[in-house]
Amino acid sequence: MFYLTTAIDYTNGSPHIGHAYEKILADMIARYRRLRGDEVYFLTGVDQHGQKVQQTAEKEGISPEEFVARNTQKFSDLWAKLGVKYDGWAETIDPRHKACVRSILSELKDQGQLYKKSHAGHYSVRQEQFLQERDRDDAGNFGPEWGEVVEIEEENWYFKLSDHTDWLKNFLEASTDIILPTFRKAELLNALERNVGTDLCISRPKARLRWGIEFPFDEDYVTYVWFDALINYISFAGYQAAKNSGLPDFSRLWPEHSRPVHIIGKDILIPAHGIYWPCMLHAMGFTDSQMPHLLVHGWWNIRGEKMAKSTGNVVDPAILADQFGVEAVRYYLVRDIVNGKDSDFDLARLIMLYNTELANALGNLCNRTLDMSQRFTGGILQPGGPLTADDSALQVSLTESTATYQTAMDEFDISKGLEALNQHVVHCNQYIDRMKPWELNKDPEKKDRLATVLYHLAESIAHAAILLSPVLPDAAAKLANQLKLPGLTDFKLADLHWGLLPDGHIIDKPTPVFPRIVSEALA
Ligand code: ME8
Ligand code: MG
Repeated sequence: MFYLTTAIDYTNGSPHIGHAYEKILADMIARYRRLRGDEVYFLTGVDQHGQKVQQTAEKEGISPEEFVARNTQKFSDLWAKLGVKYDGWAETIDPRHKACVRSILSELKDQGQLYKKSHAGHYSVRQEQFLQERDRDDAGNFGPEWGEVVEIEEENWYFKLSDHTDWLKNFLEASTDIILPTFRKAELLNALERNVGTDLCISRPKARLRWGIEFPFDEDYVTYVWFDALINYISFAGYQAAKNSGLPDFSRLWPEHSRPVHIIGKDILIPAHGIYWPCMLHAMGFTDSQMPHLLVHGWWNIRGEKMAKSTGNVVDPAILADQFGVEAVRYYLVRDIVNGKDSDFDLARLIMLYNTELANALGNLCNRTLDMSQRFTGGILQPGGPLTADDSALQVSLTESTATYQTAMDEFDISKGLEALNQHVVHCNQYIDRMKPWELNKDPEKKDRLATVLYHLAESIAHAAILLSPVLPDAAAKLANQLKLPGLTDFKLADLHWGLLPDGHIIDKPTPVFPRIVSEALA
């Protein structure tokens, strides 16, 4: 089983392209793994508790329940619109999740992993955490990233994080692929070094925060939002769930010796996913062989700056999809970013990449091939032969592109996978220009040669449709339909072979799949 999750999005705001990128990336990985033949469970959802939600709801004069219901809808509507198809949906207000968090709290307390103590210090309202001396900037202040900082003293519950940091350090040092891309591991180990001896405050007094999961053994407290949210990865996988809960069977999703893949942004690696979460799992008795992979992606910025509602510096993915189409948005968000790195959102590049690689390259290949097949051979395909050096080179190009695509996709590198696919499409278009089927068609002696050329092109499009299907499922289905290639959704990578389209196969007329985006759309 390939168990894949994303971060659960905060419902204190609306989804932006950063959220969309992560969910689309996960959707493509899930679809690719299915194509590879894996059984996949893809969980995503929303993070609904915490101080920010409570405060924003208060400001708007509505209950937090009403507020999160409204914002949750925005996320789930967007995923439906963008074709993000998940198997499980996590909402942290779900009673089944709350029961799981409470049961874990009780167990950890029974094991002596939790204690209560009083602490006086600086508290960041925005980050919902106590700050330490090391959080001050060079001028000795708590920088703007912390938002409003207040001095408070209060009693809280702590998790003995420090009991697990030595184990974590050794575990991380010995592992080669727990953190992906691997360059993030050094940052994490550094952070861990700085964290030694610190425990994690996992409660908030109800007097200050009501909107959270109540402690099972101390009703004056609710659970710190991160402790609550991280548990979604196991609660919604059926961890300790009742038989009739409707949740999956945990022992199938997350058995011994099996690592789920958590997709997260770089901002939530340290400390939440890189330190708290493995330590929490370790305290709960998860073994080293069960520790999750963290696939850490970079950020989409706008004109080099962080997206921020306050500066109006946000791009709404729903509007983008209305304007340019879902396919263009899906393609751009994974194509124009390097795994693990940041990227700058640029509408001109969205249009350029779509027009170049989809409308011009793949779209044209398909239109030209299907159009010529209709006109020259009545849509009937015949492999013909004998093969020329050009035909063999085309087949080699396809084999190589497919291999590069597979390696890249296995490494979660969608952009590289698409680049490989595009290389073959470009090869095919050059092949058309060299073979000139319209010339061959003029000479009755060259009927066989014409058929061979058209066959090589149609067969290439069939392969392209299959390889593209995890990324652009709708467009791939349209391509497959025009080729009358059956069973695209059940197709497995292992079934890929030269000759998907049998001798005598009849293909359809072309219908444009990737209409060019005209630049007036920019205005
Ligand atoms: O962090 N570009 O929620 P969130 C790319 N609720 N990714 C971005 C991004 C950007 N500009 N902005 C945010 C939370 N993200 C918590 C997670 S998980 C147990 C709890 C990513 O709504 C971000 O890195 O702030 C994170 O992975 C996800 O979107 C949700 O961010
Ligand atoms: Mg965030």
